[in-house]
Amino acid sequence: MKKVRIGIIGTGLIGEVHIQAFNKHPLCEVVAICDMNESRLREMQATYGIPEVYSNQLEMHEKCPLDGVVIATPDQYHREPVLIAARAGVDILLEKPIATTVEDAEAIIHAVNTANVKLMLGMTLRYIPEYAHIQQQFQKGELGLPINAYSRRAVRKSEGYRLNGRCSVNEYLGVHDIDFLLSIFGRDVDTVYSTSGNFEIFDKLGVADYYWNIIKWKSGATAALQVTWNEPEGNKNLLEMECYVNGTKGSAHVNLGGQQLNVATNTYCDYPELTLDNGYHIEADHFIKCILTDESPYAGGQAGVDALKIMIAAEKSSKEGLPVQVKL
Ligand SMILES: NC(=O)c1ccc[n+]([C@@H]2O[C@H](COP(=O)([O-])OP(=O)(O)OC[C@H]3O[C@@H](n4cnc5c(N)ncnc54)[C@H](O)[C@@H]3O)[C@@H](O)[C@H]2O)c1
Repeated sequence: MKKVRIGIIGTGLIGEVHIQAFNKHPLCEVVAICDMNESRLREMQATYGIPEVYSNQLEMHEKCPLDGVVIATPDQYHREPVLIAARAGVDILLEKPIATTVEDAEAIIHAVNTANVKLMLGMTLRYIPEYAHIQQQFQKGELGLPINAYSRRAVRKSEGYRLNGRCSVNEYLGVHDIDFLLSIFGRDVDTVYSTSGNFEIFDKLGVADYYWNIIKWKSGATAALQVTWNEPEGNKNLLEMECYVNGTKGSAHVNLGGQQLNVATNTYCDYPELTLDNGYHIEADHFIKCILTDESPYAGGQAGVDALKIMIAAEKSSKEGLPVQVKL
């Protein structure tokens, strides 16, 4: 069987993770990479034996036929690569957030709809088995209706310094939890209240050190989300992630920093075995299935726009000190 031909645009930190994940997949091969940083391109080509490298995406599409691309350029540079890939007629796995403005997000969705190509968002929590397990328990109705949640995502300060003020920690980390919570609680959001803290990272880079976001749904359900890049370098966890969701019939709690997952109802408390899988190869597998079959991405353009609107409301709220009404 002919292998699915994948191109990766943007070969920085997460682009390299995608090269590794797709290279391991038996049904596909990474045939081309594209980055404007020539030395990074050469380094990635030499490390992973990629056949073709390009510093220009248009040239890549002209010379190298592809079935799908992964776009892993910085947040504010998602629109142009998506428009080019859509015109080339290839399916797209786009890193989160979909964009940094609703205008860019709408242009992205218009382009993929016009070209009739698939758009999948890199909302990684959909593919981390422990998080997917919680989502499935709610989908099956095992835990009743979600009414209350607490979620936390944190990285070391050096990650904030690496990104050098180019995005907020809500855009970088919070978007994953926002998407995950929306996938369980639904889109009927009422308000977002957010407050941020300005300490070392703010003083050095001009972006908040942390956010506390409170999302309230019309049903009365509430979720609190803490995101921060304020962890000390000594923290052995590259990424702290925790989520507790309380439903009308049970609750689930995952803490991948504390390495625990439990699901409880009135009659049992289950401690499923942890996989500690970062989910990227499962995400790659889902993208390949979407290319090869009529399967739709778990998180498509709509999920991307929804999460973006919540983030924009959180930014407005943290500046104004008031809850912001949201319509998804
Ligand atoms: N899903 C996740 O777990 C996860 C983790 C980290 C980053 N991300 C997201 O991935 C994206 C990339 O983040 P990163 O941390 O890897 O960034 P990075 O700065 O490490 O890498 C970005 C790369 O894109 C290249 N680039 C920029 N514009 C380009 C263009 N027009 N064409 C080709 N290459 C271009 C840069 O030269 C750089 O090599 C961001 O949207 C970020 O939010 C997702």
